[in-house]
Amino acid sequence: MKRRTAGMTAQPGERIIAWLKQAAGEEISSERLCADLGISRAAVWKHIQGLRGQGYRIEAAPRRGYRLCASPDTPLATEVMPLLTTRMIGRHYVFLESVDSTNRQAALQAESGAPEGTVVVADGQTVGRGRMGRAWVSPAGLNAYLSILLMPRVEPARVSTLPLVAGLAVALAIERIAPGLRPLVKWPNDILINGRKACGILCELEAETDRIRRVVCGIGVNLNQTEFSPVLAPLATSLAREAGARVSRAAFVAALLSIFEPLYETWLREGFGSLRQAFLDRHALAAHTVTVEQVGGTVTGRVAGLEAEGALIIEQGDGRRVSILSGDVHITRQA
Ligand code: BTN
Repeated sequence: MKRRTAGMTAQPGERIIAWLKQAAGEEISSERLCADLGISRAAVWKHIQGLRGQGYRIEAAPRRGYRLCASPDTPLATEVMPLLTTRMIGRHYVFLESVDSTNRQAALQAESGAPEGTVVVADGQTVGRGRMGRAWVSPAGLNAYLSILLMPRVEPARVSTLPLVAGLAVALAIERIAPGLRPLVKWPNDILINGRKACGILCELEAETDRIRRVVCGIGVNLNQTEFSPVLAPLATSLAREAGARVSRAAFVAALLSIFEPLYETWLREGFGSLRQAFLDRHALAAHTVTVEQVGGTVTGRVAGLEAEGALIIEQGDGRRVSILSGDVHITRQA
């Protein structure tokens, strides 16, 4: 497993890329890089080789220096961090080429003292985790797989609305990156585009009865995948499939993190209520008849609304209304 970590202080590779991008296709001399980074020419060369290994196309011209010819479409720290508008989310950014699950890696990061807002991103996952013990198919090089480490100082019970906040952030990020698309949030934590799933969210909580130790908010978004297995094909989609054009994975991840942070801060300060209308504007279930699988059993009925604090209101066949905090929802009849 290859690891690329970037914290508050930029790593030499990041500084070199920043210089090369600033030069906008012109050469940067090796001397200038040596002076800025305080390292030898051989060390600069080693970092250039490392960057090439990550997919950057960098030309070296004798006596003139280095020139950036192309950047990879990979959500590397060097590509995402310059685009972030956040204060905390993604300021400690861990990119992994191939990993079991970013949620598991984010939990391990937390165990070794990583700060709140740490983001683990992978190019591909070998054991991507879905909800209800399902797997999340995570081919390399195509999509976004990321986990955000959060340590909210709120009652553990409030965490059930955090997936709604993440879902809203994903919908807004899709609207920003692919403006022609109309993503809808399928309560509690899927994003549908034209009725098919483009994103899944898995929030994993580690808490004592009255105190949250951490929440790992894992988000998988199908960005550029256009082929799906026969089982998934009727149910799944991607931004590229719906928009007919590839999207930049780095731009998407940066937009998502930048949008998520202010929503998360609002949620911390004011609860879900302040985000409810934005959620309802993108609500995939309004007035549909659904079946909700919960730990304690199944509820069937028409979706009649959303409580101020995010619970789904279901009107059952006999007119009785129940409010549901979490569960796996299946649409059984469209409104
Ligand atoms: C679901 O709809 O079942 C939730 C899927 C969540 C997938 C993401 S991909 C990034 C993060 N790491 C994981 O192992 N799972 C989540």
